[in-house]
Amino acid sequence: MAAQAVTRIAGLTSTLLVTALPAATDAQIVLLPAAADPLPHLPLAPAPATLTTLLLLLGPSPSSALSLLPRLPPYAHTPLVLTLLLPPASDLAAPLALATALPFALHSTTAQEAQDHQLLAARLARTERKAVLHLVHLSPLEEDSVQELSAHSIATFIAADVRPVNGHSTGNGTRKESTDDPALQALFAAYQLAAAQTLNLVHHALPAYYYHGAPAPHTLLLALGAPLSPLVDALPTAAGEGAALLSLALVRPWPANRLLAAVPESVRRVVVLEQTQKRAKRWSALYLELVAALQSRPHPHRPTLSSATLGRIAPEDGQKVLAQIVRDAEAGAGPNKLYGEPLVAEAPRAPHVPQHEHTYLQLLDTVFPDRLEVVNDPATIASQGAEAARPEYALGVAQARLELRERLVRAVKTLLREGKEHTTGVTDDLHILLAQWVKEQASPGAGALGAQIVGALQALPSASLHPAAHEVLALQEHFASKSRWIINSDTWSYDLGRSGLHHLLASGANVNLLLLDTAPYSSRAAGDPERRKKDAGLYALNRGDVYVASVAVYSSYAQVLQALVEADAYPGPAVVLAYLPYGEDEAAPALDVLKETKRAVDAGYWPLYRWDPAKREPFALDSEAVKADLREFLDRQNHLSLLEAAEQPQIAAALVGSLGQDLLRARQQRVKEAYDALLGGLEGPRVLVMYASDGGAAEKVAKRLAGRARARGLAASFRAMDELSWAEWAADDVRKDGFTLFVTSTAGQGEPPQNGRNTFKQLSAVLSQSAGGEKKPLDELRYAVFGMGDSHYWPRAEDAHYYNKPGKDLDGRLEALGATRVVDLGLGDDQDADGPETGYRAWEPLLWRALGVGDVEVLEAEPEPITNEYIKIASNYLRGSIAEGLRDTTTGALAPSDGQLTKFHGIYEQDDRDIRDERKDAGLEPAYAFMIRVRMPGGVCRPEQWRAISQIADEHGNGTFKLTTRQTFQFHGVIKRHLKPAVQAINRALLDTIAACGDVNRGVLCSALPALSTLHAETYALSKKISEHLMPRTSAYHEIWLDKKQVAGNAVKDMEPLYGPYYLPRKFKIAIAIPPNNDVDVFCNDVGLIAIADEKGHLAGYNVSIGGGMGVTHSNKKTYPRLGDVIGFVKPEEAHLFCEKVMLVQRDNGNRQDRKNARLKYTIDRMGLDVFKKEVEKLLGHDLEPARPYSFENNLDQWGWKQSMDGKWNFTMFVENGRVQDEPGKPYKTGLVDIAKVHKGTFRLTANQHLILAEVDEKDLPEMKKLLAKYKLDNIQYTGLRLSSSACVAFPTCGLAMAESERYLPVLIDKVEKFCEEAGLRNDEIVMRMTGCPNGCARPYAAEVAFVGKAPGSYMMLLGGGFYGQRLNKIYRETVSEPEILAILKPMIKRYALERNPGERFGDWTIRAGYISPVTSGKEWYEGMGGNM
Ligand SMILES: Cc1cc2nc3c(=O)[nH]c(=O)nc-3n(C[C@H](O)[C@H](O)[C@H](O)COP(=O)(O)O)c2cc1C
Ligand code: SF4
Repeated sequence: MAAQAVTRIAGLTSTLLVTALPAATDAQIVLLPAAADPLPHLPLAPAPATLTTLLLLLGPSPSSALSLLPRLPPYAHTPLVLTLLLPPASDLAAPLALATALPFALHSTTAQEAQDHQLLAARLARTERKAVLHLVHLSPLEEDSVQELSAHSIATFIAADVRPVNGHSTGNGTRKESTDDPALQALFAAYQLAAAQTLNLVHHALPAYYYHGAPAPHTLLLALGAPLSPLVDALPTAAGEGAALLSLALVRPWPANRLLAAVPESVRRVVVLEQTQKRAKRWSALYLELVAALQSRPHPHRPTLSSATLGRIAPEDGQKVLAQIVRDAEAGAGPNKLYGEPLVAEAPRAPHVPQHEHTYLQLLDTVFPDRLEVVNDPATIASQGAEAARPEYALGVAQARLELRERLVRAVKTLLREGKEHTTGVTDDLHILLAQWVKEQASPGAGALGAQIVGALQALPSASLHPAAHEVLALQEHFASKSRWIINSDTWSYDLGRSGLHHLLASGANVNLLLLDTAPYSSRAAGDPERRKKDAGLYALNRGDVYVASVAVYSSYAQVLQALVEADAYPGPAVVLAYLPYGEDEAAPALDVLKETKRAVDAGYWPLYRWDPAKREPFALDSEAVKADLREFLDRQNHLSLLEAAEQPQIAAALVGSLGQDLLRARQQRVKEAYDALLGGLEGPRVLVMYASDGGAAEKVAKRLAGRARARGLAASFRAMDELSWAEWAADDVRKDGFTLFVTSTAGQGEPPQNGRNTFKQLSAVLSQSAGGEKKPLDELRYAVFGMGDSHYWPRAEDAHYYNKPGKDLDGRLEALGATRVVDLGLGDDQDADGPETGYRAWEPLLWRALGVGDVEVLEAEPEPITNEYIKIASNYLRGSIAEGLRDTTTGALAPSDGQLTKFHGIYEQDDRDIRDERKDAGLEPAYAFMIRVRMPGGVCRPEQWRAISQIADEHGNGTFKLTTRQTFQFHGVIKRHLKPAVQAINRALLDTIAACGDVNRGVLCSALPALSTLHAETYALSKKISEHLMPRTSAYHEIWLDKKQVAGNAVKDMEPLYGPYYLPRKFKIAIAIPPNNDVDVFCNDVGLIAIADEKGHLAGYNVSIGGGMGVTHSNKKTYPRLGDVIGFVKPEEAHLFCEKVMLVQRDNGNRQDRKNARLKYTIDRMGLDVFKKEVEKLLGHDLEPARPYSFENNLDQWGWKQSMDGKWNFTMFVENGRVQDEPGKPYKTGLVDIAKVHKGTFRLTANQHLILAEVDEKDLPEMKKLLAKYKLDNIQYTGLRLSSSACVAFPTCGLAMAESERYLPVLIDKVEKFCEEAGLRNDEIVMRMTGCPNGCARPYAAEVAFVGKAPGSYMMLLGGGFYGQRLNKIYRETVSEPEILAILKPMIKRYALERNPGERFGDWTIRAGYISPVTSGKEWYEGMGGNM
C-alpha cells in the first residue's frame, strides 16, 4: 500500500520521475533498467518550478544504495525527492549514510505517513530547491490503508507558493529561537513550514517525532527504524515503567535545541536504537547529533547516552525486550547490543547473466583460454558484494592490478640488476629466466615463465634473499599476462556513465571494455538515447589513441574474433561495442536476434568497424553501410585525409558516399525515365494496370491484360503497385480520364504481395483520415479489381476468410474512398479446373464491355508474353547483357532476363529477405546478393581447393559456405561487384560454375561411400565424364567471367551440338549410386545409374532409372514428385551416352509452354514410359538389357572412421545442414582449413550435406584425429534423428522460400529428439527433411517424414517415405505449425517405439499403423492425402 501511495504522489508532484517501478503519470518518466545507475538521469541544473523524484525499491540488504553516496552531494541543492522504499526489516546503515549527504531526510513507517511525507517532501524540495531523502518502510500489513487525496487538490497544493516573503515560519511559534547554527535553524524552519502546509492539505498532524510513555521518564529510547508498535504497546506496562520512546519522523535537520527540547528534563539515560546491523562507523550521525545537543544540558541533568541495535521484535516479545533495554541501560551495557531477532541481510547473489550475453563471454573464453580476466565477473559478487560487478568499481580494481604488475616488473628488474651480488645470489639459470620474463612479459607464455621463477626463488634460502626477491614472491600472482576485460551489460553491470568511460580512456591503462548494446533495431526509436552504446564508440574514436571496434556476433563472427584479438594486443585502453539486440526478452530466439542484427547493420545503424591506432591504416570498415554520424565524424576529423592519402583513395569515397542515397536517386531517376517514355508512346483512352504479385502469376495476368487492352485500342501501361508513389498516382490524370485496373494475388495468410504492401497501407491510411469527411479522396477514379488466390491454401474452415483477401479488401476500400467500380470484382482460384484462368475468362469480357471496347475485333495476334524460352533464344548462347549489367553500378541487381541467364553460369540473383521490408520502407532497392554454385561432379576436391573455397567465402561472400544436396559448394551473399572476382577465384582453384544451375544438365552426383574404392573410382570417373560430356559448349562463360575474348571478332560462331539454342525445357539431374547405399537418392533424379558389380566385385555396368524429380507447386495438382523407374541395364562405356539420349528425348519432347510441367517426369507420364524408353533405344541404336538384381539398405551417410579396400581411412563428419561456419564452441570452418593445410588425401561432399575426410594414410591417422578433436569435428554423438536430417537453405537468401528451413530444422529437432529419447529411440534413424518451399531442394518427398514450407511458421507435413529412398511420402497435414507438429509427433514416436516390428522403419510403420497410405506412383500422389488419423 505504501509503495502504491508513494508512487502515485511521486507521479502527481514531479516534473520528472526516474524509477524502475511502473507509474501512471503525466510527468516525464525515465524507466530505469534493472541495475541501472539512476544518477545520470537527474538534472543538475533543473529549470525553475520543477521537481525531480527518484524512486527506488531497495532489497533487504540495501548496501547497493551506498554507491550513490559519493556522487550525491552535487544534487543536494537541486529540487529532488529521493524516495527509497525499504522492505520491513531492512538494514538502515546505507540509507542513513545517504541522509548525511542531503539537507533533509524523513522517515515513514505506515502507508498514510508515507503518502503525507511524500507530499511534504515534494513541497519542501520545490520551495527550498533542495534535496529531500524519504525513507519508507514497506509494511507487511495489508490493512495499512491510506486516505487518498484528489489529483486536483495535490496539483493546487504543489503549485501554490505560500512561502512567507520575510523568512521562514517558526512552526507553532512556541519555542524560543536558539543560538544554534543559523543555517540548520533555517532548514528546520523550512521543514516546519512545509509540514504545516501539508497538514492543511491532509488534515493529519505531521509531527517531527512521536512520543510514547511516561511524561517524566528516567530512560528514553530514541528510535529510528521498523514499526515500533511492540515496544509502544509495552510501554504502559510494568516493563516500561519510567521509560518513554521517542521515534523520529524527521531524520534531519535537527538543530541541537530542537532535539534537546524533545528530551524531557527527567531523563537520566538515553538509548539510541538504530536499525543498523552492519555499521560502517561506531557512532551514527544521529547519535553524534544527540551527544552534541545533550552537551548543553547542565551536568547533573545531563543524561548518559548509549546506542544499541534494533532487530525485529515480534508483538508478543515487546514487554520482554523493553524490560531488557531498560535493565541494560541501568546497568550501563555497551554499544552494539542487539535487541530482537537479527535483521536478515541477504547474502549478495551473483546476478543473472542473460543467455544471449553468454555468447560474448564464451567467445572471450575461447580466444583467451588461459589469460582471460573478466574483472567484474559476476561470480565475484558472492565474495565481494554487489559492487564488484559495477564497471566503475572494476576499473579501479583493474588499475590496482596493473599497478601491482608494474611493481612486479620493477622488482624483477631490480633483482636482475642486483640479485647476483646479493648474499644469496640468484643463480645463472634464474637470471636467464628473469631476463626472459622481462622480454616476454606481455606474451601468453609469461605466466609459465613466472611459475619457473617462483620455483627457483623458493628453492633459495628465504632468510637471506634480496628484498626485491621477497617482493617478487609476494606479487607472484601477477606474472601472467592477463587479457583484462570489463563488461558493461544493461542487465547486470550497467552504470558506466560518461565520466566512467572518460576515466578509462584518459587513464591510458591496458584495460579492455566490452560494451553490450541490447536494444533491438526495430524498437530503437523508443530506446533511451543514454543507452546508445554506439555513441560511446564515437566518443572513444574522438580520442584517436584508443582501440575501438564496433562488432555484432550475429553479423560477422570472424570480425568479432579479429576485434577481440586486436583489442587485447593493443597496449592501451580498448573499447569493443558489441551488438546483441535481444531487447527485454531474454528468451528471444537466436533467429530473431540475428534478423534484428542484420537490419541494424544493413541500415547503417550499427556499422561494423575497427580503429586500431597501432596500425598504419588504423580504420577498417567491415560493413557496407555507414551511419551518418560516423560519416560526419570522419568528415570532421582529419582521419579522412589520412585515408585519402593511402594507396586506395576509393575506400574513402566509399566510406563517405551515402550508399543508400545514391542508389535511391539512381533508381528514382530510372523509374521516372521509363515511366515518361511509356507515357510518351501512348495514344487513346488511358488504362493503367497495377499489379501486386509475389510469384509472378498476377504479374503475368496484368501484363497480358495490358497487352489485350492495347490490342483493343486503349493506351495501356502496367506497373507494380508500389512502383508508383501515392503522390505520382494522384498527379497522374489517368485517375480523371482513364481507368485503373488492379490485379493482386494473395500472399502469406491473406496478405497483399510484397510489391503492393505500401499501396495497401496508403489506402488504409487515407481511408481512416477521410472517415466522416464530405469529400471522398478517390471520387474521380474508375476502377476494376481482379484478385488471385487459392481457396484451399489454408484448408481449415476458420481460415476461409484468407481466400483472396487482398482483392476483396482492395475492391471494398476503393469503393469506400468514393471510386467508381466499373465491373464487379473478379476472382481467380488455383483450385478451379484451369486455375485462375477459369475466373479470369469470365471476368475479362465484362471488363471490355464496361470499358466500351467489348465489340472491338482484335485482328492482330496478341503479343506472347516473354518466357524463359524467348530469353534463351535471344541470349546469343547465354550472353544476354550480363557483361553490361555487371558494369552498371547504379543497382545491385542484373536485368531480369540476365538473371535467368546467369543461372546457366551457376549464379542466382537473390536478396536478403530478412531486411527486405526495412529497405523498402527506406526507399532502397532490396539488398541484392548472388548465390554462386560450383560445378564439382561427384563432390570430390583436394585440400588446396578446400582452402581456396574457404577463402573465397571470406573475401567475396558472407564468410560461410554450404555443402549442398548436390555434393557441391554454394556461396551466398556475393554482391555484384564481387561476382566476377569470385568466379575468377573459383576458376583459379581449378573448379568452375558452368551449368551448375539453369535448363541444362546440372552437377552429377556420385555415391560418396569410399569403402568400395574400386567401384567408387570408376563411378566417380563416370560422373566427371558425364558432366564434361553434357556441358554447354558456349564460350560465353569464359568471355564474361574470365575475360577471354571471342576469337577474331566473332569469326567463330558459338553452337550447342547437344542443346541447340533453346537448351532444355527445364533442369536435368543425374546421379550414380553404389548399392547397398543410396546416399545420393538415385530415384529422385531425372536419370539414375545404379552401379552393378560382377561376381568378382568389378563394375559390370549400371541399372538405369528415369523420371525422378522433386519440384511441386502448392495446390497445383498438375505438379507432383516422382521417383525414377528402372528401365534396364547399360554397359559402363555406354552410360554417358545413355544419359545423353534421355536428355535429347526430353529436349525434343518436354513441355516448353509451361515450366511447371516441363521436367522429364511429366514428359514420361505424358508419353508413357514404354514409348519414352523406345525413343531412347532408337537413339542408342539398340534395346536396353534387362535390369540386374540389386538392393539398397539406406540413403544415409556412414558416420565415423571407415577403412576402404586400398587400406586408406575415411572419416565422415556431421556438418549440420551442410553449413560450414565458425560458431561459438564450434570453430568448424577454421578447423577444416587447418586440416586442409596438412591433409594429403581428398575431401568428399555427401549428397546429405555432410563431409568425408577421405584417403588418410594409416600413418597420418593420429595427426588427423588430433586435429578433428581439437576443432570438435569428431563429434558424431548426435541422435539418430539429427544425423538423418537435412534442410535446404531457404531464408534469408533463397528468393523462393516461403518459410524457414536451414535455420529452423535444428531448433525443431531439439524438441523432437526429446520425444525420441523418451521413447528409447536415441540412436534410431528417422529420415526427416525440411524445405522452405515445395521445390524440394533437400529431397523432402523421399524422406520418412518431411516438412515443406507454405508461409512463415507454416508447413505441409508428409509421412510414409521409404527409408532408402524407394517410396515417396504423402501429404499428411496440409498446414501445421510447431505446436501441431509436436502434438502429432510425440504420441506417434511413442507408438512407433512400442509397436514396431523388429527392424521396421518409421516410414513403413506409419503406413502399417494406418496413419497414411503408401504412394505407388507420382501421378497418384494426391490420392488419400490427409492421412487417416
Ligand atoms: C506463401 C503463399 C501464401 C498464400 N496464401 C494465400 C492466402 O492466404 N489466400 C489465398 O487465397 N491464396 C493464397 N496463396 C495463393 C496465391 O495467391 C496464388 O497461388 C496466386 O496465384 C499466386 O500469385 P503470384 O504468383 O502473383 O504471387 C498463397 C500462395 C503462397 C505461395
Ligand atoms: S526448396 Fe525452395 S526454399 Fe529451399 S532452397 Fe530450394 S527453392 Fe529455396
